[in-house]
Amino acid sequence: MPQSHVVTISRFLVDQEHLHPEATGAFTSLLHDIALAAKIISREVTKAGLVDILGGTDEENVHGEQVQKLDVFANLAMIRALDHTGLVACMASEESNGLIEIRKRFPAGDYVVVFDPLDGSSNIDVNVSIGTIWSIHRKVSKGERGTLEDCLQPGTRQVAAGYVVYGSSTMLVYTSGAGVHGFTLDPSIGEFLLSHPQMRIPEPPKKVYSINEAYYRRWSPEQQKLVTYLKTDGGFGSRYIGSFVADIHRTLLQGGLFMYPADSESPKGKLRLLYEAAPMAMIVEQAGGRASDGKRRIMEVTPESLHQRTPTYMGSKGFVELAEAYLAGKA
Ligand code: AHG
Ligand code: MN
Ligand code: MN
Repeated sequence: MPQSHVVTISRFLVDQEHLHPEATGAFTSLLHDIALAAKIISREVTKAGLVDILGGTDEENVHGEQVQKLDVFANLAMIRALDHTGLVACMASEESNGLIEIRKRFPAGDYVVVFDPLDGSSNIDVNVSIGTIWSIHRKVSKGERGTLEDCLQPGTRQVAAGYVVYGSSTMLVYTSGAGVHGFTLDPSIGEFLLSHPQMRIPEPPKKVYSINEAYYRRWSPEQQKLVTYLKTDGGFGSRYIGSFVADIHRTLLQGGLFMYPADSESPKGKLRLLYEAAPMAMIVEQAGGRASDGKRRIMEVTPESLHQRTPTYMGSKGFVELAEAYLAGKA
């Protein structure tokens, strides 16, 4: 979307900060640091295949999944961009089992950052879009440094949420509660430039559903009935990339219905609440869509553990409501 003027993410963040007289600049700095991590990860992603960054390590993460080399790189890039800034009280990551504390030699700050450093790991080695997802909360515990309690806050308490999609271009998309804004990386100058101001899910939306149909037999009868309707009388097309970031990015730009349901083998689905579903829920809602666990807003669920999962239905409001009606046996 050509702009008549060039707006870097730095300029945009400063302008946004001026809208809040009480702002100290700490939040702006934090987003700068996340954008820096995104550039560092993007550089490694675009070199993948030329350097020894592809393939797996011989480690398993807390989810029992084989850790990819790029998972480790991205996790370290996020931690190292944030841990010394004096802006963060603690962090949590899909790739780290427990709380990531700020080392004593670094000052601690008021923000909590939880993240999925590399989303869509199964797509890394086949050159399909992958991403990074992050969520920012304010510290609520009384001590100087953050605790688990600071990470286990409902999505409604998020100060900001965002993702980076490493695709045909690298884009950073975020919201701090005043709309959703997309920035495209110009690698020749190393700057994220405003390319998608005030992103809104289009109305009427594209009739596309997105789900891994290989699990059909594991679904509830209501879930099976929903998908059968969508692909027959509903007249929907289907797109499934297998990277949550890429599937949601497409849904934001075109509309549609993304689903990762609970099933007989994963009673809470696969996607993690804290650093996948909740940040994406804030973005989807800010863009005019709906984000539900099939019954209620994902943003209203208070996490009980760092890596807990949630069934996930996100996208065009009417489509998510249709899914909820089917799941409730009312359609
Ligand atoms: P991650 O690579 O961070 O573990 O996330 C992968 C997730 C998500 O990106 C995607 O929607 C989902 O896994 C795909 O799962 P299936 O392969 O079971 O469809
Ligand atoms: Mn993920
Ligand atoms: Mn991941």
